[in-house]
Amino acid sequence: MKTVSLSTLKSLKHAGEPFSCLTAYDASFARVAGEAGIEVLLVGDSLGMVLQGHASTLPVTVDDICYHTRCVVRGKTASLLMVDLPFMSNASLERLLEDAGALMRAGAELVKVEGEAWMAEGIRELTRRGVPVCAHLGLTPQSVYQLGGYKVQGREPDRATQILEDARTLVEAGASVILLECVPASLGRAVTEALDVPVIGIGAGSGTDGQILVMHDVLGVTHGRMPRFVKNFMTEAADIQGAFRHYHEDVKARRFPAEEHSF
Ligand code: KIV
Repeated sequence: MKTVSLSTLKSLKHAGEPFSCLTAYDASFARVAGEAGIEVLLVGDSLGMVLQGHASTLPVTVDDICYHTRCVVRGKTASLLMVDLPFMSNASLERLLEDAGALMRAGAELVKVEGEAWMAEGIRELTRRGVPVCAHLGLTPQSVYQLGGYKVQGREPDRATQILEDARTLVEAGASVILLECVPASLGRAVTEALDVPVIGIGAGSGTDGQILVMHDVLGVTHGRMPRFVKNFMTEAADIQGAFRHYHEDVKARRFPAEEHSF
């Protein structure tokens, strides 16, 4: 695979070719995921739950994220590296810029930030300074207590319109990528068609440009109840390499996500 950049993702969108994304937190899994053809790796703050055992992503710090980013950088091959800004990185503009700077110095090539239209100013300032941004909308896990749980967002027409409008606002502010989590498939498709930038979905149906899953879900080692949008690819593979390859190939062929993984 050739080195993946933001332009690659944009070309794939325009060619109508879906791309695969997967979380990674260390050098070994980053290498295996890259060898399987996964186009985008995410050092997600999901590490708070799947690595550290917390009930949410809120306890994760910038230092935690930087540590895992440096680990992933040592193993990654051609994949584009997206990295999460953790809870409260957006507490002030100053903190946002400082934290994004730390992530970029650790090896991030794209930073992901949760938040709605109010994040426009922060995104404008980041992109002005050369930091590419992915804006995460829909179910934003850092707001889990405000949202009242890990629930599908945008089922009501007003909320769906708001998510679409927020996505437009954040792209106008400079976001290079939108990530939509846990929204109805119809909304995932509508946002993807409305925007010129790549849209990555998780629990957002098969109509988005890219798909992302948490590595532990793909490997079937997640503790507790599996969300509907998740698939354990180990059931049809002999090893971890095979599971990542199946996931990548199923995304590319639009076999995943299927109806049963969508809302
Ligand atoms: O932290 C993470 O792993 C994420 C994905 C669920 C998209 O944000």
